[in-house]
Amino acid sequence: MNGRLEGRTAIVTGGGRGIGAAIARELTARGARVTVFARTATEIDEVVRTGGAALAVAGDVSLESDVIRLRASHERVLGPCDVLVHAAGILERGRVEVLEPAAWRRVLEVNLTGAFLVSRAVLPGMKSRGRGRILAIASISGHVGTAEGSAYNASKWGLIGFAKCLAEELRGSGVQVMTVSPGSVDTRMLAQTPFPPDMAPEEVARVVAWCAAEAPDAMSGSDVGVFG
Ligand SMILES: NC(=O)c1ccc[n+]([C@@H]2O[C@H](COP(=O)([O-])OP(=O)(O)OC[C@H]3O[C@@H](n4cnc5c(N)ncnc54)[C@H](OP(=O)(O)O)[C@@H]3O)[C@@H](O)[C@H]2O)c1
Repeated sequence: MNGRLEGRTAIVTGGGRGIGAAIARELTARGARVTVFARTATEIDEVVRTGGAALAVAGDVSLESDVIRLRASHERVLGPCDVLVHAAGILERGRVEVLEPAAWRRVLEVNLTGAFLVSRAVLPGMKSRGRGRILAIASISGHVGTAEGSAYNASKWGLIGFAKCLAEELRGSGVQVMTVSPGSVDTRMLAQTPFPPDMAPEEVARVVAWCAAEAPDAMSGSDVGVFG
């Protein structure tokens, strides 16, 4: 590949703002036709209106019915999905003894179960066509421990483990799976933390687009760090 994605389609969950929106714009700039998916319709509609994606589908990545509707809408309008980027994510911070169980569950549902659901939705088509790329946005938090980060870090450690298992299941299938683990990126999510930004969302987006268009198949199962 030459870094271009003409003739390819992509789904980007969490594509309404921040890193996901930057990824949608980068994939679109490389020629892909992209669906952005998130709960806030005004944000995904704005990405489409400004040329960063071809289609907006509103929904919750933790709901299987919404994810099935996402795949159906994408296939109907843009065709089979070649590239799936799971960027949808939420952050809940708090020490273990004060973090509400509902907040713990919600983080795991969106960040980890969401990746399982969207992967599951696109996998049969990718396998039958013998090609596809599944890219999940993990984090430096999936490699370290952070005070007040138990739910979020566990979701990202889990996401990396999930991707490695999926890559093993898909060995030889033509479908590649990778995680991308950024450090601190200047987004609304980072503003919930005490950490200063090290980079812009567009810098992560360029790495993800490289993974989508150019990374060798032999990298399947790898985690790619992006530290600004
Ligand atoms: N910012 C950082 O420093 C950093 C570092 C490493 C990794 N990451 C990861 O990068 C990804 C993007 O984060 P960001 O910093 O760009 O955060 P952000 O600006 O808050 O964007 C998060 C995106 O995910 C969507 N989303 C959240 N819950 C969702 C749900 N249940 N269903 C569908 N979409 C949902 C949001 O839209 P709605 O709220 O409208 O649904 C939004 O479009 C996340 O996975 C995050 O963990 C971020």
